[in-house]
Amino acid sequence: MNKPKVIVTRRWPSEVEAQLKTRYDVQCNESDTPMTVDALKRAMQSADALLTTVTDAITADIIHVDNRQVKIIGNFGVGYNNIDIQAAKAANLTVTNTPHVLTDCTADIAMLLLLMSARRAPEAERMVLNRQWHGWGPTQLLGQKVTGKTLGLIGFGRIAQAMARKAHHGFGMKILFYVPSDPEPAIVNELHATRCTNIEELLTEAHFVSLHCPGGADTKHLLNEHRLKLMRPTAHLINTARGDVVDSEALIKALKEGWIAGAGLDVYEGEPAIHPGFLELNNIALLPHIGSASEETRIAMGNRVLDNISTFFAGQTPTDRVV
Ligand code: DGY
Repeated sequence: MNKPKVIVTRRWPSEVEAQLKTRYDVQCNESDTPMTVDALKRAMQSADALLTTVTDAITADIIHVDNRQVKIIGNFGVGYNNIDIQAAKAANLTVTNTPHVLTDCTADIAMLLLLMSARRAPEAERMVLNRQWHGWGPTQLLGQKVTGKTLGLIGFGRIAQAMARKAHHGFGMKILFYVPSDPEPAIVNELHATRCTNIEELLTEAHFVSLHCPGGADTKHLLNEHRLKLMRPTAHLINTARGDVVDSEALIKALKEGWIAGAGLDVYEGEPAIHPGFLELNNIALLPHIGSASEETRIAMGNRVLDNISTFFAGQTPTDRVV
């Protein structure tokens, strides 16, 4: 029997690519350049599985291409807002993601951004690198203390809970959260966490606000000018979720005019473009979407996609089926 044909849209860790090659007729992307719309359409017509990631916009137009052969899209990532899920459902196309394996690394990056922003680490490092540091000073680079403060989480899924654990058990932080669905009581109890009745209440009370909701139309600009103005002037906003959850223009204004003290971002509206206004600010920590970027996690993500497609080709339902 012929091996199923699999097209991978970006480079993956070499050990996972090697595994893929033992099982399938694989086309890897040696150049690692994101594929064009036409190339994605051709891939849809020639492969049995397309292995995508956050940099591939899989639109309805691509999904509904004539003579589509692809039966499963294995997305390398827990978020799948890069794929038109309604169109995939209508086209009877299976889509999978990679939950669980990136939870801790992404929560670590959220905590890193929180600490960087609170303690003004980017500014301090720039001072050293630019040879502008001339010695210790009692009033130099004073930031905000993290230990014992209140962390507000918008969204309370796996990554938010992992961050809450690190913040509560490691830094003695008080945890507030807002989530529309009912959280698991055992986790809420373990973290002595308090559920806010709405986002506004959380924004008013928290010293640090971290975003953990999915991207997409329902959460676009959830943090807008009105809501940013509710935050404390000493508060920091952390975003490791998706860029469009925050109105970038409003956040730049908030940081320039001192409505809040700082921000830490790993994701951007319209990335890889970054609003030039962010680059002019001192009170912001900026990372290039590295939430899941550890060797262990990226290998585990690739293996998770492998498991999903092999289950699919064995005629069963993949564990991480989204639709
Ligand atoms: C994820 O897994 O959603 C990361 O943001 C990378 O796409």
